Amino acid sequence: MEKLSIKKDWHKFFFKNSFYNPASPEAVKRAEKEVNFILKKSKIKKGAAVLDLCCGPGRHSLVFAEKGFKTTGVDFSKEYLREAENKAKAKKLSMLLIKKDMREINFKERFDLAVNLFTSFGYFIKKTDDLKTLKNLHKALKKGGKLFLDVINGDFIRKNYRHKHWEKIGKDYFLLEKTVLSKDKKTSLNEWTKIKNGKISSGKFFVRLYGKRDISEILNKAGFKILSFYGNFEGKKLSVDKNRLIVLAEKS
Ligand SMILES: C[S@@+](CC[C@H](N)C(=O)[O-])C[C@H]1O[C@@H](n2cnc3c(N)ncnc32)[C@H](O)[C@@H]1O
Repeated sequence: MEKLSIKKDWHKFFFKNSFYNPASPEAVKRAEKEVNFILKKSKIKKGAAVLDLCCGPGRHSLVFAEKGFKTTGVDFSKEYLREAENKAKAKKLSMLLIKKDMREINFKERFDLAVNLFTSFGYFIKKTDDLKTLKNLHKALKKGGKLFLDVINGDFIRKNYRHKHWEKIGKDYFLLEKTVLSKDKKTSLNEWTKIKNGKISSGKFFVRLYGKRDISEILNKAGFKILSFYGNFEGKKLSVDKNRLIVLAEKS
């Protein structure tokens, strides 16, 4: 099988508006429902402090702010943060947006709820960087604060693995996804090739494929107590046939 290689700082190349923007119209539409689910399950009080780590163009941050939560969004991408800021201004919403690598956040007992959504975790070649991120999140939460983590379900990917997959996204828009699993099947290297209006572009990304057991282990190591698992934002049970792995955890 074809091999793929990737740079350690691949995220600086992949997350660019010219190639990928997480705030597609369909994804923006889903955000309110996702936030409602998070609020219902985490039971945080109105007006509480929320951290959206890896907020991107602010799909969820904007909804939290609209609902009256004290919202802070963090992302390393200036481009995405600018988009979030412009949208907040247009809606006359106030939120704090900070440009920072997720490994470097340094808040202390400031938030009631932290979220990291749409597979914004598991990006680092060194697993210790994932742990560092979770320890930072743990430190950032007040005692009893909640963490909502939403990642691709590694167990689903291992079960349904396909090396190549073509998808027609819209008129004149095709996406070829190539995935190469590591020998131990715990990580994946991915290459997306887009053909849009006759133009070809490609980008690579790395994801650590957390399943229920691995995510529990690393969350516990970072000091979190797991409260619940879900397989989607409708609250369906997590299973190997669900492609999302959603965890609600608590700083105990
Ligand atoms: C799949 S997108 C999801 C964005 C947003 N959570 C959403 O649901 O729309 C992943 C986000 O992680 C951000 N990101 C990637 N690596 C990062 C890093 N090392 N530190 C901070 N943000 C990072 C990207 O800029 C991007 O906004």
